[in-house]
Amino acid sequence: MPTPLTIRPLLPTDLAAVLRVQAACYPPAMQEAAAVVNARLAAAAATCLAASDADGVCGYLFAYPSRLGRVTDLGSTFELAPDADTLYLHDLAVDPRALGRGLARALVEHLLDLGRGLGLTHAALVSVQDSTRFWNGFGFAARATNDAGLLTYPPGATYMTRMLALKS
Ligand SMILES: CC(C)(COP(=O)(O)OP(=O)(O)OC[C@H]1O[C@@H](n2cnc3c(N)ncnc32)[C@H](O)[C@@H]1OP(=O)(O)O)[C@@H](O)C(=O)NCCC(=O)NCCS
Repeated sequence: MPTPLTIRPLLPTDLAAVLRVQAACYPPAMQEAAAVVNARLAAAAATCLAASDADGVCGYLFAYPSRLGRVTDLGSTFELAPDADTLYLHDLAVDPRALGRGLARALVEHLLDLGRGLGLTHAALVSVQDSTRFWNGFGFAARATNDAGLLTYPPGATYMTRMLALKS
């Protein structure tokens, strides 16, 4: 029987676990460097979350305040927008050992509530690894962007957005 899940702020001490989950979830070409992951957490700790159970961290979600239409290049640090209107979800991953237990839903719903609390009007992301249907389930829909950052992702990457005011 799986132990209960906790959703909490991501901490610098979680870095090794984050890298382990990342390695299990993405191909080599999409692995992002430890220093970049660390810098993102330092820049946006208020909007980066961990999911953990009795065996430790088994999922994470990195996000930060941005602008609608803007994409974070793969492998680059977060540049928080002073005039942010959008919660940008950069990376959501769940350890294969914990799939299908509602971790991703718990992380995303917790984060979207944080975004509402920050007064942001939209949420956005780049869907990879055939995840558009997954994101549709959270109210996200594909939207055009002319941000060249989208080209730093593998083919099939899709920019998606939703309004934040309404719950998914
Ligand atoms: C996608 C991912 C985050 C799902 O994690 P999870 O904890 O198993 O998801 P949950 O159990 O919280 O499921 C949430 C909902 O999404 C649905 N879902 C899960 N995986 C799905 C998929 N691959 N396609 C479509 N829907 C999916 C579930 O049925 C569930 O629906 P419900 O809440 O309406 O019943 C996980 O498979 C993962 O980490 N993948 C690798 C990294 C990745 O590609 N991340 C997305 C990059 S944009």
